[in-house]
Amino acid sequence: MFLKRIELQRDLIPSYNQYPFSIPSIKNLDQIDIHSKVTFFVGENGSGKSTLLEAIADKCEFNTAGGGKNNFYEVNASESALGDYIRLSWLPKVTNGFFLRAESFYNFASHIDTMGTGPYGGKSLHHQSHGEAFFSLFSNRFRGRGIYLLDEPEAALSPSRQLAFLRILHDLVQEDDSQFIIATHSPILLGYPEATILSFDEGEINEIDYEETDHYQITKYFLQNREKFLQDILADE
Ligand SMILES: Nc1ncnc2c1ncn2[C@@H]1O[C@H](COP(=O)(O)OP(=O)(O)OP(=O)(O)O)[C@@H](O)[C@H]1O
Ligand SMILES: [Mg+2]
Repeated sequence: MFLKRIELQRDLIPSYNQYPFSIPSIKNLDQIDIHSKVTFFVGENGSGKSTLLEAIADKCEFNTAGGGKNNFYEVNASESALGDYIRLSWLPKVTNGFFLRAESFYNFASHIDTMGTGPYGGKSLHHQSHGEAFFSLFSNRFRGRGIYLLDEPEAALSPSRQLAFLRILHDLVQEDDSQFIIATHSPILLGYPEATILSFDEGEINEIDYEETDHYQITKYFLQNREKFLQDILADE
């Protein structure tokens, strides 16, 4: 495990009235101690998960538009607003790794194409389906000790590929001693054992159990009571 702590440097913050310091979970952040090789960020849309993940990527000197240390390409508005205001503590410091932003995967694929098809299944990422391309990235680019920062990796993946992704994650964690921080809405990914789940809800970042997440509770309730659930939410006023 490498990244041990994330601290907000409050003395540098000019004002809490504007983004990103106006986001409640960030406004109330002091420090996060990381004690698992896999940490999940969960929370409502807009609760600040991507903002913090991007700031970590920025501090790791990964391209904040997505990629590793050696992936330099320009994408609009990809600078991190929070990166200059956090401090990361490492033991030991690692430089290998990758930042995956779901929204900018297309740009990353284009960038890879300009470098030749490389080790991505021998085929341009643009000539693979969204999920296939994501998957060949996971299976080929992620290797070795490193820190992997992933923003909603499930976006492209079918449920069975999400399970296969868990297998790859597990191998990287066990065999390569890698660390992951993953923002996700997937109840499947969140089920990974021995992970720490950090909730960004209720204006604070707090550790919660899998069974306490909305993702688990709402999915479970929905699957067990689909008809009643739909009757309730689709009922006329
Ligand atoms: N560049 C920006 N300028 C101003 N506000 C922003 C900017 N980027 C994000 N925000 C706002 O900051 C808040 C947190 O956004 P963020 O993208 O971190 O949320 P999130 O937890 O990742 O949500 P989601 O689950 O939808 O991906 C949101 O209210 C968003 O509108
Ligand atoms: Mg997000």
